[in-house]
Amino acid sequence: MNWRQVCSAEFPKFEMKAIELDDKPYILIRHDEGCLCYFDRCSHQDVKLSEFGSLTDKILVCFAHGVEFDLTSGQRLSGPQCGNLSPIPCKVEGGDIWVSLP
Ligand code: FES
Repeated sequence: MNWRQVCSAEFPKFEMKAIELDDKPYILIRHDEGCLCYFDRCSHQDVKLSEFGSLTDKILVCFAHGVEFDLTSGQRLSGPQCGNLSPIPCKVEGGDIWVSLP
C-alpha cells in the first residue's frame, strides 16, 4: 500500500474532518480503534457528507434524504436506494493520520 501522511490525529473522535487530497474531497473519522476515511460524497445524490452527514458511534446518516450507512463498513443500512460507501484504508500512526488511496 502507498501510505500518505495527511494530517495530525489531534481532532475529536466521531466528528468528520474534511480534507482534500489530489484536489479531491475526503472525510476522516477517528474512533476508538483508529480512523476511517471515505470520499466526501453521499452515494445517493453526491452531496457532501461533511455538510449533510451526521455521526453516531456506529452509523453515518446523510440528512439530504436520510440514507444511513454503517460507519465502519460503509454499507447502506436504510433509506433511499443507493450504493454503499467505499472505505479507504486509513490508520493512526505516530500521532498522525495516514491514508492509502487506490
Ligand atoms: S444525497 Fe445523501 S441521502 Fe440523498
